[in-house]
Amino acid sequence: MSELRFDNRVAIVTGAGGGLGRAHALLLAKRGAKVVVNDLGGAMDGSSGSGSSAADKVVDEIKAAGGQAVASYDGVDTWEGAQKIVAKAKEAFGKLDIVINNAGILRDVSFLKMTDEDWDKVLRVHLSGTMFVSRAAWPLLRENNYGRVVNTTSAAGLYGNFGQANYSSAKLGIVGLSKTLAHEGAKYNIKVNVIAPIAKSRMTETVMPPNVLEKLAPEYVSALVAYLVSDKCEDSAQVYAVGGGYFSRVAVMEAEGIGLPVEKVSPEAVAEQWAKINDMTGAKAYGNAMEAAGAAMKFAMM
Ligand code: NAI
Repeated sequence: MSELRFDNRVAIVTGAGGGLGRAHALLLAKRGAKVVVNDLGGAMDGSSGSGSSAADKVVDEIKAAGGQAVASYDGVDTWEGAQKIVAKAKEAFGKLDIVINNAGILRDVSFLKMTDEDWDKVLRVHLSGTMFVSRAAWPLLRENNYGRVVNTTSAAGLYGNFGQANYSSAKLGIVGLSKTLAHEGAKYNIKVNVIAPIAKSRMTETVMPPNVLEKLAPEYVSALVAYLVSDKCEDSAQVYAVGGGYFSRVAVMEAEGIGLPVEKVSPEAVAEQWAKINDMTGAKAYGNAMEAAGAAMKFAMM
């Protein structure tokens, strides 16, 4: 296969001052993209953020390798910040084709001890941040009749994780948002997909042993991201688990289920049919909410 290139494409990567975002930005720039490297240089819990050095360093790396990039220091967690990030792409490079929503923070704490601020801040950066940047970018992508958006979820969102009520809620919210944007973007050739990565970064340094982390370079995740934001990618509304050489589609599956005549619907009937209700043989991943509702309606209309 010929090399996937991004010449004449303009990309925004949020949270690109370190970790996964930096790797995504470096790879796209190496393959010809003009990149807005966004990062407010924050602490991992989002408690501070005024540093321009994180984004500047990545811009310098890109330029040193012969690529094109500009830095943006605005937070994704406000509508004003998101508009400035997108304006930067337009000012510097005249258009926008690719958005990688990657910025994130962690405030891990057990549910009982979680404060309102822990909840609000994490939802604000991950979920609202992804929405704000996507909403600011949307008119430009529609104008192009081309857009590739990759958003970042987590296994914690897909499956739940102890101490991450705020983070897992935000991360699954990103999946719902992405799927709806994929449907709305379809007629404008805007594809929206989601990654659930696993990689070495400051977020994982304290929870995984060094010998495991060594095998989880962020670059292995960026390869999938680059494919998803390329013009070769025709898929949309999908979620992919990725890391350390592993690549796999993740789907919400609905079992075939059972249909009871409505006059027989009762708690006891549910109890009697429990095994069949839970049987995932022949389960399906529906393409949209209407298709899924159709499966339920099929029984109601019988
Ligand atoms: P990281 O902490 O190295 O990178 C996150 C970056 O986002 C930081 O550079 C930070 O300054 C920036 N940031 C934070 N708040 C921001 C804001 N309001 N506006 C702009 N930038 C902001 O962590 P990592 O691991 O690279 O995480 C990247 C994304 O991947 C996050 O969304 C994270 O939740 C997700 N993720 C990472 C996993 C991993 O194994 N590393 C696992 C699952 C998800």
